[in-house]
Amino acid sequence: MSMVSVARMPLNRALIFLGPPGAGKGTQSKRVAQRYGVPHLSTGDMLRDAIGRGTPLGQIVRPIMERGDLVPDDLVMKMVEERLSEPDFSKGFVFDGFPRTLPQAEQLDRILERKGFGKPVVIDFQVDDGELLRRLSGRWTCSVGGEIYNVNDAPPKVPGVCDADGGALVQRPDDRPEVVKERLAAYQRQTKPLADYYRRQGLLDTVNAAASVEDVGRALGEIFRRAEGRDGHL
Ligand code: AP5
Repeated sequence: MSMVSVARMPLNRALIFLGPPGAGKGTQSKRVAQRYGVPHLSTGDMLRDAIGRGTPLGQIVRPIMERGDLVPDDLVMKMVEERLSEPDFSKGFVFDGFPRTLPQAEQLDRILERKGFGKPVVIDFQVDDGELLRRLSGRWTCSVGGEIYNVNDAPPKVPGVCDADGGALVQRPDDRPEVVKERLAAYQRQTKPLADYYRRQGLLDTVNAAASVEDVGRALGEIFRRAEGRDGHL
């Protein structure tokens, strides 16, 4: 069954996309959120927006993100809680890059329970480090709408220009190889254990995220179809 037909059902829960930097979480979560008409919440995008606007939060997190470390949990949770209190989150949402530590996951469980959401669907994107490095070195992102491109695999029609809105494409400062190394280490140390946390609760699915964008999308559609069959809704 394709994702398009699955998407006729209303989404009424959180979808959580786990995985290392460059695994394709942003690419897939934007598509899924669009299909279900629910918000896409990327803590990385929110933090980069704070940096771009020069807010107090942005000034604190800029050096942390520039060296590839994770932002402290209390700052991330405050930002997420504020966003989740907005009304467009009442029908569900897609988390991209959140939660990222055990305390974030535990706090999210409490928030979802308080808001009356059922258990989330959690998907772990699995890709080897060589492919991650290849993808991140080729990534360009639209400075206006956030569209994600890859000069090797998914280039824009006109180099440096977004197909969707004509915005200038930029490279993320944390995609420099030395910072990517730190981000991968932070992932191994702090985020990878979350897979076990969700597996123990029977909530974890995995996808082979080394496959093509279309094949990963199809695999996600299968996971959503199974979750819907199991729980009576997605
Ligand atoms: P964040 O912005 O979340 O980055 P990330 O998790 O490191 O993930 P990326 O955005 O790099 O990769 P992605 O998996 O989304 O891949 P994408 O789809 O772009 O976090 C950045 C920083 O913010 C962190 O280091 C931390 O400091 C801070 N932060 C964020 N959240 C935090 C939290 N909760 N707690 C604490 N700190 C936090 O794809 C990558 C490239 O591959 C693209 O070019 C794309 O076109 C290409 N591609 C995608 N899929 C495929 C495919 N199937 N085949 C071939 N190419 C593909």
